[in-house]
Amino acid sequence: MTQLWPVLLALALPAAATSNYDCSTICQTLASALPNLVTFPNSTAYAIHNNYWSARQSDVHPACFVAPRTAQDVATAVQLLTAHDAPFSVKAGGHTAFEGGSNIPAGVTLTLVHLDAVAVSADRQTVSVGAGNRWINVSEALDPLGLAVVAGRSSTVGVSGLTLGGGISYFSGMRGWACDNVRNYEVVLASGDVVNASPAENEDLYWALRGGGGSNFGIVTRFDLVSFEQGDLWASSNVYPGAANRTLIPMMHELLVKGLPDDPAAHTYFVMTHTAELGGYAVLSDEFHATHSDVASPPAVFAPFFDPALPTLAINTRVSNISRLSRDIEQANGLRQTWWDTTVAATATPDLLLDIVPLWEENIAPLLAAAAADNSTISPYLIYHPISSNILEAMQVNGGNALGLKPEDGPLMIVQLNLAWTSAAMDELVETSSKELIEKVNALAASRGASSKNGYVYMNYAGKTQDVYAGYGKQNVAKLRRVAKKYDPREKFGELWQGYFKL
Ligand SMILES: Cc1cc2nc3c(=O)[nH]c(=O)nc-3n(C[C@H](O)[C@H](O)[C@H](O)COP(=O)(O)OP(=O)(O)OC[C@H]3O[C@@H](n4cnc5c(N)ncnc54)[C@H](O)[C@@H]3O)c2cc1C
Ligand SMILES: *[C@@H]1O[C@H](CO)[C@@H](O)[C@H](O)[C@H]1NC(C)=O
Ligand SMILES: *[C@@H]1O[C@H](CO)[C@@H](O)[C@H](O)[C@H]1NC(C)=O
Ligand SMILES: *[C@@H]1O[C@H](CO)[C@@H](O)[C@H](O)[C@H]1NC(C)=O
Ligand SMILES: *[C@@H]1O[C@H](CO)[C@@H](O)[C@H](O)[C@H]1NC(C)=O
Ligand SMILES: *[C@@H]1O[C@H](CO)[C@@H](O)[C@H](O)[C@H]1NC(C)=O
Repeated sequence: MTQLWPVLLALALPAAATSNYDCSTICQTLASALPNLVTFPNSTAYAIHNNYWSARQSDVHPACFVAPRTAQDVATAVQLLTAHDAPFSVKAGGHTAFEGGSNIPAGVTLTLVHLDAVAVSADRQTVSVGAGNRWINVSEALDPLGLAVVAGRSSTVGVSGLTLGGGISYFSGMRGWACDNVRNYEVVLASGDVVNASPAENEDLYWALRGGGGSNFGIVTRFDLVSFEQGDLWASSNVYPGAANRTLIPMMHELLVKGLPDDPAAHTYFVMTHTAELGGYAVLSDEFHATHSDVASPPAVFAPFFDPALPTLAINTRVSNISRLSRDIEQANGLRQTWWDTTVAATATPDLLLDIVPLWEENIAPLLAAAAADNSTISPYLIYHPISSNILEAMQVNGGNALGLKPEDGPLMIVQLNLAWTSAAMDELVETSSKELIEKVNALAASRGASSKNGYVYMNYAGKTQDVYAGYGKQNVAKLRRVAKKYDPREKFGELWQGYFKL
């Protein structure tokens, strides 16, 4: 059985604005100002930079890539781009699913790949991470030291995009999301000034970058992350036949409302998929525990998932370092990808979470049929990510983040769709159909009880046309706009930095 758990998250996006701007001139100007850092389509370096997780992004071709080596190089590039009103995008780990999320047709793409330092402070409390790192580069530095950060769960995902949009981690039950565990951001503003944002300095910008996304505010060049002592984690990937969903989803509901808040060291997500290899539907419960170290028996919080009476296809339990666990959740580059998400408030019974499943089955049936008719492939995933009350509480440190999620809103469940397919001819069908399913899930949730957070869209798993900021609340959006205007008074980033979620 190949990567079932590759599943996960993503985004999709805002109309890739095609501009009439001729970027060949600005690319030459950038090449003169930043010798050896600008690459054109006739080079192999360009081909390497144009490799993205989702083939929809690799299909896009910028006029040139700029690959800065220092924050000052980023500042130089930003000054030239804004002075010439040149449209651009910024790539870190390049894991946005939709085209144009971190690439731009015929424009300039800044790739942060050379901002790759990882430095641990003498007191072991902070790790300074260059914005071009992927999580594997951080864990490979920290695992041997017995340290960890509130990181993404998959090895090749970028530190930047994940942390700027929120960041669900193995450690979120104790520490909140990745964005809640940044001590300081080093940021290049639209003016080209390099500033710091922390609770002590530019604290309004610090707040905005905690979940508000990057593209309205600045290009972060370094994240100073909270590090903490952490040994190997207990982890188990349990795969069951699809029919067990009716038994397993009530167990997942119980975790959301009780098991996880009672044991903040536990972390989990739940995946349903359809795969020919397993003869149809299958269910994956991926479980993690930060302090349990006995590979022979699960922590109490996950014991029900090991009931011998449950039909299982595979159970893979291990106690491992984060580098290895995150490689297990790796999803290779090269397929066409989308993801869409919404959120439902927990109801008293598991019925809502159960009743979403047949809506999904109905939704993917035509996609499976279309792929078969087209002789192409498509892998559908429906994923539940619990946001239990302890996570919401942990998010409130240092003045809270920009996401607009409060303890009294919870518990919540993110409902995420992910589809990975091979034929470009199916792009439109997949997008339309995903949008319809999200609308049906929202309508179903509304019919089961009102909550202001039903319909909340998590940025890092959002579809290209979803309204991410609506869920942050009117007050937070107004404040985010004020911060954007303060640090970019001419609104150059709003205008020129294209392809992602804009305020
Ligand atoms: C296999 C896989 C696993 C995942 N696992 C998780 C997970 O465990 N938890 C989770 O929360 N999410 C997860 N995600 C979702 C992930 O958080 C988003 O896809 C995220 O945007 C990826 O960041 P990136 O840097 O790789 O992407 P990119 O596409 O490079 O960047 C995303 C956006 O951020 C902007 N940006 C990038 N760098 C900067 C910067 N330095 N300053 C300002 N703006 C910048 C880009 O312009 C772009 O708009 C996963 C995604 C995948 C594909
Ligand atoms: C590649 O293209 C750029 C921009 O058009 C040009 O300046 C450069 O000379 C070309 N390099 C080669 C090796 O052809
Ligand atoms: C990041 O990690 C990958 C995988 O181990 C490695 O190939 C790459 O060289 C690393 N990057 C840096 C800058 O160390
Ligand atoms: C993680 O553990 C594996 C064994 O499971 C080991 O081979 C690898 O070197 C470890 N990685 C790090 C970065 O410590
Ligand atoms: C969920 O279980 C029911 C009954 O056991 C089954 O009919 C349905 O197809 C299952 N759904 C999935 C996605 O496995
Ligand atoms: C379908 O695709 C497979 C693999 O790409 C190929 O080997 C096969 O010949 C194709 N069949 C048809 C009828 O096109």
